[in-house]
Amino acid sequence: MPESFLSFPAIEAISLTKRVADATGELIILHGIDFTVQAGDTLAIVGASGSGKSTLLGLLAGLDTPSAGTVRLGGTDIFEMDEDGRAGLRKERLGFVFQSFQLLGHLNALENVMLPLELRGDAEARSKAEAMLARVGLASRLKHYPKYLSGGEQQRVALARAFVSEPPLLFADEPTGSLDAATGESVIKLMFELNQERNSTLVLVTHDKSIAALCKRTITIAAGRLA
Ligand SMILES: Nc1ncnc2c1ncn2[C@@H]1O[C@H](COP(=O)(O)OP(=O)(O)O)[C@@H](O)[C@H]1O
Ligand SMILES: [Mg+2]
Repeated sequence: MPESFLSFPAIEAISLTKRVADATGELIILHGIDFTVQAGDTLAIVGASGSGKSTLLGLLAGLDTPSAGTVRLGGTDIFEMDEDGRAGLRKERLGFVFQSFQLLGHLNALENVMLPLELRGDAEARSKAEAMLARVGLASRLKHYPKYLSGGEQQRVALARAFVSEPPLLFADEPTGSLDAATGESVIKLMFELNQERNSTLVLVTHDKSIAALCKRTITIAAGRLA
């Protein structure tokens, strides 16, 4: 791991602003958000639907570009990089878990988990992916395609995919939003276990107070501002 990822905060949001054009003119989704996350921390982002949580997460991960302000990951300004630079950084350092799982439907569970490793040219992609799927309790589902897996199983595959390349930073956007309460709880438990084992930094969007309470720190977004 480069020195910079150890000696700088994992994430710095600096006056992060997002404006979009809409039918009535300009819509300000985020109004100058500032916060810092230290390496190894767990942060919950909570707020009402439409408050700007997913937009914020997308900016932190460099999936979207800000209108003003910036994001530093491990001390590096990700918006001073070009798209390719950000894509490379995502591939090397970031993991994602989404509400809708976002598995590739034409790949089986094993292939979905192998993909991030193969993109990095890892020669041990298959054995690492198999071990990771075993870790999330899916050793007997390697060849299943997503449509033959339950929601909870699909999210376990997504967790395996997110963690298999051991990214220092994990982003999760309402990862239990599509699951029933009991399944959601088991997925969250697993996500925190993996996060602890790997000593990664976790940023979790949720509207569930009991899930937010599992994080070391919570920030609340209301109408695009830190509350
Ligand atoms: N590209 C876009 N164009 C116009 N409006 C958008 C765009 N992206 C998000 N919004 C609006 O910005 C607000 C915040 O969206 P989002 O970040 O998805 O909120 P949350 O995740 O908190 O529910 C919502 O009102 C949404 O409709
Ligand atoms: Mg959202």
